[in-house]
Amino acid sequence: METVTLGRTELEVGVAGLGCGGHSRLGLGYGASTEAAGDVVRAAIDMGMNFIDTAAVYGTEEAVGLGIRGRRDEVVISTKLPIVQPGSSVLGDHFVSGAEYASGLEESLRRLGTDHVDILHLHGVMPDQYSYCVVELLPAMLRLQEQGKVRFLGLTERFIYDPQHRMLTRALQDRHWDVVMTGFNVLNPSARERVFSLTLEKNVGTLIMFAVRRALSVPAALRSLIEEMVGDGLIDGARIDHDDPLGFLAGGGDNAGVIDAAYRFCRHEPGAHVVLTGTGKVAHLRQNAASIQAGPLDPAALARAQEIFGHVDSVSGN
Ligand SMILES: NC(=O)c1ccc[n+]([C@@H]2O[C@H](COP(=O)([O-])OP(=O)(O)OC[C@H]3O[C@@H](n4cnc5c(N)ncnc54)[C@H](OP(=O)(O)O)[C@@H]3O)[C@@H](O)[C@H]2O)c1
Repeated sequence: METVTLGRTELEVGVAGLGCGGHSRLGLGYGASTEAAGDVVRAAIDMGMNFIDTAAVYGTEEAVGLGIRGRRDEVVISTKLPIVQPGSSVLGDHFVSGAEYASGLEESLRRLGTDHVDILHLHGVMPDQYSYCVVELLPAMLRLQEQGKVRFLGLTERFIYDPQHRMLTRALQDRHWDVVMTGFNVLNPSARERVFSLTLEKNVGTLIMFAVRRALSVPAALRSLIEEMVGDGLIDGARIDHDDPLGFLAGGGDNAGVIDAAYRFCRHEPGAHVVLTGTGKVAHLRQNAASIQAGPLDPAALARAQEIFGHVDSVSGN
């Protein structure tokens, strides 16, 4: 697996990282057992992937624990803890306290079967939640770091509700964060200007989510999102092949070609360190790891993508 230095953490990580959330949650999202999900983690490590991203709310930390058993030293573990109380609106202000956040980490460590995580994130922070996080939760994170339970601190945006990266644009003015996770894909490349310009300047490690998601892995979902975007005046319908909207990027290819192009689009973006791929299927993981390590897309096709989608900042592709 090709590796990259994850910004100021100086961790050497594979360019393709295993995402244990999303719609698939290592297969738990469609009924797989925890043991089978653990097998996906093991297969990823066998393929040379050393970056694993999970979260307390995904329900996949136990599977990660199974998959890394006896191999903890081979992997970089990134996990996230919720900033709001269970059952309350994730967009609201029923926040967890610093003490609750810290005890959440103890639970995560138990499920993961390890005594430390490499990166601990605040999970899915909205712009109006950020100041609470800095005042109340950051001190708890720093204490966990002092105790050796966490190596680096990060935060992730809630891309579906904040596709314009308002939270990260604000957070990256501060020096607290070693790593951030942002949504980025061919349909909404706005992180280029608003996030990567800052992470590059500050040498912050950058993880990419939503590279493919549903819109770029299910042809009917892509066609319907494109029609919506045309209807909303976001993109020019006259420039699009409505039956095969991204065929030009994927070499006129089938769905597998679109998925391949979508991962390569992210991988070669300056400032994008680890492209996360979320799946419950080892065959998909193998294909995606190969795509993420393949060469850049055709410059003329990229220029066309930029003309059509370059200004879009209001969709996630969920
Ligand atoms: N705010 C946050 O903190 C946040 C939010 C979202 C995501 N994340 C992180 O980012 C990671 C990546 O996001 P994601 O899981 O949505 O991943 P993704 O790689 O963008 O998309 C995964 C989806 O595409 C499908 N897929 C993948 N490879 C395929 C292939 N070769 N052929 C056909 N379908 C394929 C998967 O279904 P199959 O299972 O059928 O392959 C799954 O539904 C998450 O797992 C999570 O770790 C974080």
